[in-house]
Amino acid sequence: MPNIAFINGKWTSLSSAKISIEDRGFQFGDGVYEVIRTYGKACFELKEHLTRLERSANAIEIALPYQAEILEKIIQFGCRKSRFKDTMIYIQLTRGTAPRGHAYPKKKRSTLVMTFRESKPVSEEIRKKGVSIISTEDIRWARCYVKSLNLLPNVLAREAAKRAEAFEAIFIREGHVMEGAGSNLFAVFGDKIVTPSLGPYILSGITREIILRLGRENGLTMVEGSLPLDDLYVADELFLTGTTIEVLPVICLNQKPVGSTKPGDVTLSLFNIFQDYVS
Ligand code: PDD
Repeated sequence: MPNIAFINGKWTSLSSAKISIEDRGFQFGDGVYEVIRTYGKACFELKEHLTRLERSANAIEIALPYQAEILEKIIQFGCRKSRFKDTMIYIQLTRGTAPRGHAYPKKKRSTLVMTFRESKPVSEEIRKKGVSIISTEDIRWARCYVKSLNLLPNVLAREAAKRAEAFEAIFIREGHVMEGAGSNLFAVFGDKIVTPSLGPYILSGITREIILRLGRENGLTMVEGSLPLDDLYVADELFLTGTTIEVLPVICLNQKPVGSTKPGDVTLSLFNIFQDYVS
């Protein structure tokens, strides 16, 4: 089962895929990305991911080299070619290759790279037990709705989580929760399920949007609002959402127990609703 890559129109094995060291993605993080997964042969919410990719690219004035419909076909072809049961697709679009200089180069030729690898789910053991998270100061820029390649604060936050033997780090700004280094956070208070409202410091997660919609369709009270860090300690349940983790229960925050320290009923029910939607 090959890991494969697509670079500006050419298919290659992942191990032999190469781009120039003068690519602006490499030198400046001057680009945007998406992570998409398949369930079997079907790409999950492909249109939504490509719409977000286009929105991110527009925000930093990079043109997509293909129309979304063509890109969809290329991605579907890649999934068939890689022949994994479930595929993880990484798309990276940069401002292309040019001699180093901060301002945009005159010649506009973006680099589009896509990789196709096996998608590995969160283990049953972790999912059943729930995960620990830590909080960390949000030191990111004010356009976190752009899925930019500049992930240094997220890298540092995730490493801090790893060193604390936690699964995820949650960014806190002026005492309020924003999102995880690579996920969105929800908190359950009685019959209310709260997630931070969209804004400059939050990525509109595709999974976040689906959970909000499915929750509402199933009669749950889904609230987008402000979420103080202090409130998390008295929440009944916490859970993370994201493409790779789906709906993941949190049982510990900064080494303090969350709720009953077991995955909660609301989280499990939303996980099951999500699984029904997927299938
Ligand atoms: N991360 N917030 C941030 C900062 C993210 O990086 C992600 C996704 C999410 C969740 O978005 P979605 O539900 O669309 O996956 C929220 C991807 C998976 C990553 O960087 O690997």
